Amino acid sequence: MAKNAKLHYTTPGMDEATAQQVVDILQDRLYACNDLHLTLKHVHWNVVGPSFIGVHEMLDPQVDAARGFADELAERIATLGGSPIGTPGALVAERSWEEYSIGRDSTQAHLGALDLVYTGVITSYRENIATLDDLDLVTQDMLIGHTEQLEQSHWFVRAHLEDRSGSLATAGATTEVQAADAAAGSTDGDAHAG
Ligand SMILES: [Fe+2]
Repeated sequence: MAKNAKLHYTTPGMDEATAQQVVDILQDRLYACNDLHLTLKHVHWNVVGPSFIGVHEMLDPQVDAARGFADELAERIATLGGSPIGTPGALVAERSWEEYSIGRDSTQAHLGALDLVYTGVITSYRENIATLDDLDLVTQDMLIGHTEQLEQSHWFVRAHLEDRSGSLATAGATTEVQAADAAAGSTDGDAHAG
């Protein structure tokens, strides 16, 4: 978990033990959003194929949104008397998920992988929202706002993966490579390894 500096004060009406738990949640979300905006830029640069420009340009507003969430999360940590950790080494050391695994690839392959990326981020956001019920409703409100926008971005991604019946090409995929292959219609399981 995050190794933020000790709190010496916090916001009025909250005890420091509670504030520390809230800071730990915020720090985990800060790692997630910093990871997300960097990953989305990586995809923005690496998509290829006939739908390049639409996907390339769709992703920049999602990058901006994730960067905005990171800024709000970090400043909320400081507001609660904590010290936000925004350095890349700490992010890599502390995150509980793997590095995005796909380099240059088709738009559909990346969108398939991004479906899983957003699933992971949103699932954790919802778990944190539930935990904050008993800790801090103000921070919970911030996370609810982020989740609404993340879920809309996730829909933008999924709309590219959905068929006329409403089924997702990535249904049942448990890894980014599986999801990328399913979305791209590839039968070569090694196509997106490494
Ligand atoms: Fe760009």
